[in-house]
Amino acid sequence: MSESGHIEEPKKFSPKDPPKLNPPKEDPIAMEDLAKCDGTHSSHPTYVAIMGTVFDVSGNTAYSPNNPYHIFAGKDASRALAQSSLKPQDCTPEWEDLPDKEKGVLKDWFTFFSKRYNIVGKVQQ
Ligand code: HEM
Repeated sequence: MSESGHIEEPKKFSPKDPPKLNPPKEDPIAMEDLAKCDGTHSSHPTYVAIMGTVFDVSGNTAYSPNNPYHIFAGKDASRALAQSSLKPQDCTPEWEDLPDKEKGVLKDWFTFFSKRYNIVGKVQQ
């Protein structure tokens, strides 16, 4: 039972073949370092951050250059994910002013990423 009184579905957003994930890391990651992890530098992994939590999406070509979700790579894309937007100007970390419905969408994306990608750190404030 969650705080809201709903019974959580344990399988919600689970991938068919759940990957073995590492324990989540809390390492601080500076915005400029995150920006380098956008899939355009072969020496760097590819990261996407949601609400300050950084996920390593290197294994998924969807985030590689020329692919649809490359727009999120190297950024905290919380706002765009919440608003189902692929516009670069929406790929920003601000989400707290959004309506509850969009916050719910964002939370669902967080769950989706948490079940697929290693958490490698937190965006440094
Ligand atoms: C015509 C519109 C769209 C189509 C047909 C589409 C299609 C898809 C498909 C087939 C997947 C893979 C699902 C899976 O792996 O289970 C996916 C994943 C995803 N979509 Fe879309 N999508 C659309 C629009 C959008 C928009 C507007 C956003 C903006 C937030 C978005 C964000 C994502 C993200 C973040 C993923 C997860 C990729 C991953 O890490 O596996 N999509 N989409």
